Amino acid sequence: MSQRETWATRVGFILAAVGSAVGLGNIWQFPFQTGANGGAAFIVVYLAAVFLIGFPAMLAEFVVGRRAERNPIDAFARLGHRNWKIVGVLGTLSAFWILSFYSVVGGWVVRYVLGSATGAYFSGSEAYFGAISAGPEAVGFHAVFMALTVGVVALGVTDGIERSTKLMVPSIVILLGGLAVWAGTLEGGAAGYAYYLSPDVDVLLANLGSILPAAVGQAFFTLSLGMGAMITYASYLGRDDSLPVDGATIVVLNTFVGLLAGLVVFPILFSLGIEPGSGGLGAAFITLAGAFAQLPAGRFLGVGFFVVLLLAALSSAISLLEVVTTYLVDNTDRSRSTLAVALGAAIFALGVPSALGVPILSWYNAIAYNLLLPLSVLTLLLFVGWADTDDAVAELRRGTDLSEGGAVAWLWFVRTLVPLGVLATLLLGLQSLAVKAGLLAAPLV
Ligand code: PFF
Repeated sequence: MSQRETWATRVGFILAAVGSAVGLGNIWQFPFQTGANGGAAFIVVYLAAVFLIGFPAMLAEFVVGRRAERNPIDAFARLGHRNWKIVGVLGTLSAFWILSFYSVVGGWVVRYVLGSATGAYFSGSEAYFGAISAGPEAVGFHAVFMALTVGVVALGVTDGIERSTKLMVPSIVILLGGLAVWAGTLEGGAAGYAYYLSPDVDVLLANLGSILPAAVGQAFFTLSLGMGAMITYASYLGRDDSLPVDGATIVVLNTFVGLLAGLVVFPILFSLGIEPGSGGLGAAFITLAGAFAQLPAGRFLGVGFFVVLLLAALSSAISLLEVVTTYLVDNTDRSRSTLAVALGAAIFALGVPSALGVPILSWYNAIAYNLLLPLSVLTLLLFVGWADTDDAVAELRRGTDLSEGGAVAWLWFVRTLVPLGVLATLLLGLQSLAVKAGLLAAPLV
């Protein structure tokens, strides 16, 4: 077996992890989920979920990855817990599954970059979405997006992932910041800030039952948890920097980009009198494209926005492909590039059905979000909290001046609050799958 790769720099690791975290979840899903769940009230719960549940869970993944220095499937045997291999298998399968349709949406984004440049959707953004979101063209752009992802992963950890995310992440922040400043100049946009930034406690309390699971689920998805991605990225650390400091930096940057996306989206929508309600997977594309079509310099702005979305999607997709690739790199003699191409082709094939019908994509997404993700996070937490306990605490403290008390506090989060939050999300997720499948007429709670 050849020497395992490591990140060249600490910043490289942090930016790669931020690249994984910042994705379609932040820029496409987050503002619209906020819209569907009552605006600022949702954000309050979401922030609590990110910091109290997501952050400790991210550290749990880091602790496993850095100590094992192995892919998620073999990590557990490496740590002396062969029986827990299922955790890594679940994560790796989730990555495989999620990338299959994430790449389809990535393909839509590529299409929208081009469509913005030519003004193709200016005459009717809903019809445009209908035409490009499913069918042979969608399959084609799914292939293009997957090829880009494979291209980066094939180049390796430092030359591919580290180098590209070092460019992509700052570009995302700069472009999105520019768009937010511009959106601030729109007449009537201020109503968007009010909606987005001032929580209504009554709305919050009245809808806590639905807001809570949505917020926890979104927190895991946006932090790239439950798919082996953070285990994998931490396995390339090969250094003793502070995991809590790196983790906090990643969580804060990711949250910042999500909030920034809202500062772009809401003033645009409100300035045009568009309600940011829910409307399924296509809503963001249809509403935003519709908005660009009405704005001066809409082509230019549309290209800017969708390029941001593309960079965000790509830097996340590479982390998903890396999870699967690293398993085979660790276990076969074939070259990384051959493996990345073969896996990219297999995942592409799995995604083809969701490129042929948006309802199919919605099913793929529901299975991932409601079942695979919470199950995988839950098993990992049980492992770190209850099986690997002492070693995990020691690993968290390595390279830090974190007190024993601080580490133990983290451990108790990982043992109690966090798994309970995930368990509740899992049960509610199963319920919503049952409703979607018609097995339940309406949610019980
Ligand atoms: N965090 C990404 C997003 O918000 O779009 C999605 C994601 C990427 C989830 C990588 C999981 C993962 F491993």
